[in-house]
Amino acid sequence: MLNFFSAKKKDRSENIEIDMSRIPKHIAIIMDGNGRWAKEKKLPRTMGHKAGVETIRGIVKEASALGVKYLTLYAFSTENWKRPSDEVNALMNLLIQYLRKEFKELNSNNVIINHIGEISKLPSACQKELIDAYNNTKNNTGLTLNLALNYGGRNEIVRAFKLMYEDIKSNKLNEECINENLISKYMYTNSMPDPDLIIRPSGEQRLSNFLLWQCAYSEFWYSNIKWPDFTKKDLHRAIYDYQNRDRRFGGVK
Ligand code: IPE
Ligand code: IPE
Ligand code: MG
Repeated sequence: MLNFFSAKKKDRSENIEIDMSRIPKHIAIIMDGNGRWAKEKKLPRTMGHKAGVETIRGIVKEASALGVKYLTLYAFSTENWKRPSDEVNALMNLLIQYLRKEFKELNSNNVIINHIGEISKLPSACQKELIDAYNNTKNNTGLTLNLALNYGGRNEIVRAFKLMYEDIKSNKLNEECINENLISKYMYTNSMPDPDLIIRPSGEQRLSNFLLWQCAYSEFWYSNIKWPDFTKKDLHRAIYDYQNRDRRFGGVK
């Protein structure tokens, strides 16, 4: 049980102590390894995705309890359309089921259910669920849950260029206004802080087109655990390791 009055949270099973005054503001997770998890168990890949959705519930709850302000979950990339259509359809249906099933609890936990990515390419039922979930939670004040769907870092940068071009054409922008802060505002993440910590389970050590602009100074944490097996202890371990890193941002101490 989390004691909000103590500055440290102990995870005795791991023998680690999280400093509650230095919780990362923005955590982003590449939820990877569902397919291999299923394969190991001789199950169809879609069962891995189903198990992966179950993991989301506990991690959102724990991130929220720890006081994380933004949690970005990479759920479907712009490259994931290359997968067999059965798998893509199953993922889209799981998204709808997740939003329908979890909405009440997320809303009662004060979570803002946001999305990033080109959702206009998703099936219309998914778009509707995402837009409704956002509209019905946008006034909440707790954790912002960013579901990255049909998200690609390069796609996001191309989109930002196009939006800026439009604003230059209509004289809303001129050359002098263009700086890093302004470019950040044209990203899906808009005025959110950049991710402090990017977590990738499953053993892969790559970004796979995730948050390319935003990850300039993010700390990376990799683990061999596959996403369906990822628990709040893994989240604690990632935060603990993050808190023991020296973030220099190019400077010296
Ligand atoms: C992540 O698990 C979920 C999505 C990319 C949608 P994977 O489906 O990539 O699982 P592996 O990498 O094949 O094990
Ligand atoms: C990244 O995982 C995308 C998501 C987790 C949604 P992938 O499984 O698609 O990435 P690669 O193909 O291993 O790089
Ligand atoms: Mg994968």
